[in-house]
Amino acid sequence: KETPSSLIMIFGATGDLAKRKLFPSLYHLYRKGRLGNNFAVIGTARRPWTHEELKENVKDSVLTSIGKSENIDEFVSHFYYQAHDVKNTESYIELKKLADKLDEQYSLNGNRIFYLAMAPEFFGTIAEHLKTDGLNDTKGFKRLVIEKPFGHDLESAKTLNAQIRKAFNEEEIYRIDHYLGKAMVQNIEVIRFANALFEPLWNNRYISNIQITSSEVLGVEERARYYETSGALRDMVQNHMLQMVALLAMEPPIKLSTDEIRSEKVRVFRALRPIEGDHVKEYFVRGQYGSGQIDGKDVPAYRNELNVDPASNTETFVAGKLMIDNFRWAGVPFYIRTGKRMETKSTKIVIQFKDIPMNLYYNTDHQLAPNLLVIHIQPEEGITLHLNAKKSGQHMETTPVKLNFSNTSTHGINTPEAYEKLLDDCLRGDATNFAHWDEVALSWNFVDKISEVWENKTQTEFPNYASGTMGPKASDQLLEKDGFFWWPVTDLDIDNC
Ligand code: BG6
Repeated sequence: KETPSSLIMIFGATGDLAKRKLFPSLYHLYRKGRLGNNFAVIGTARRPWTHEELKENVKDSVLTSIGKSENIDEFVSHFYYQAHDVKNTESYIELKKLADKLDEQYSLNGNRIFYLAMAPEFFGTIAEHLKTDGLNDTKGFKRLVIEKPFGHDLESAKTLNAQIRKAFNEEEIYRIDHYLGKAMVQNIEVIRFANALFEPLWNNRYISNIQITSSEVLGVEERARYYETSGALRDMVQNHMLQMVALLAMEPPIKLSTDEIRSEKVRVFRALRPIEGDHVKEYFVRGQYGSGQIDGKDVPAYRNELNVDPASNTETFVAGKLMIDNFRWAGVPFYIRTGKRMETKSTKIVIQFKDIPMNLYYNTDHQLAPNLLVIHIQPEEGITLHLNAKKSGQHMETTPVKLNFSNTSTHGINTPEAYEKLLDDCLRGDATNFAHWDEVALSWNFVDKISEVWENKTQTEFPNYASGTMGPKASDQLLEKDGFFWWPVTDLDIDNC
């Protein structure tokens, strides 16, 4: 689909997200001719920058992130800056004047994208002003792109949603979940629905369990003020982890339209078994990192990080067992785990198939390994299928083998960043890879029941895992109780074959 001409207005243009992700992504799109014939970008924030200061900043961000910058001057000539106070009507009136002027200058047909890349407490206020001060009253399309966190729990998410719905329809709201822009997350659907091989086995008759790990090596860094109010459950599970579960578990949509895919995902969220009250400790484990070593260097415990309460009860790790109570998945646990300061940075999905009914080869010195389908989301991208084959030699002995598809090496290492894909989708009006309100509401509803229990009961064992490890013991026990174990993510690496 062609990209229409449009005005992109970035709220929070002096911030980290704009610098690290948005400017380089826009530059990539520009270089690929994906920004339409005409476009203009207005950056706004509190700081009193000039147009020139913004342009310099954009140049700098492109150079830092990409290393080279052909046609950069022509690219930044499309950027404008307007200092802005989010609570002040006068500010919006000034913004509107600039927007109307650029609309005419670049023939943008009144198409506008408002990107909120700033502190979430202002999301609602900005959306309301966009309406009352007339910025979104244009003859073209208007779209609101909104970063996470979308609320802190179901109640606050509802309040925020009501505020932004006063100014935008649901189809005009693009709630970012950057995992949905990752190449291999988008590939889940293709692996499932474009191959005859997997879909017939994709159910409780053939799959014993599914494991999703998203581990990080970094600690809380400079984000403690936000993270202290969030924790891993809200930060990673409510959005990224549950979105991956939905893509793995959904029924095939009748077609690949935004509405059809969303409604299948929503049905998964509706089938998620609620975990509440006393059951929480049976299904969910929380952890907080203590000190330890990362790459041979000592790192502090979470409670000793800058701006963290020394008695903090915030979890930096979550492992959980999810059950999807429908015909396809009854009895198949979906295990998830995510955390900071873990051994390795890795996001992987392991689909473990059931054992064959009878092992004819048990004369061999090892048991038959189960078949695994591993989807490597990051850092390497690809798929590995683990099979058993005959060991070379005289005897009928088996050995595990791996079939690999490496997305990175096939398509080059610069597979587009998630933000670039998502911005491109938004410019073209494709909201498939964004979170619909129904998904957000159902996932908050699921997560709230867990955080309620955790918040009412101080965890006395924190910290309960050392930095540089794969989380607390209880996370391993969660699977051991069911006769499973976490497949070690490093052993599954594509390079490790
Ligand atoms: C963000 C979280 O949504 O995702 C961060 O707020 C986390 O805490 C990040 O570090 C992980 O993203 P990625 O793409 O590095 O896996």
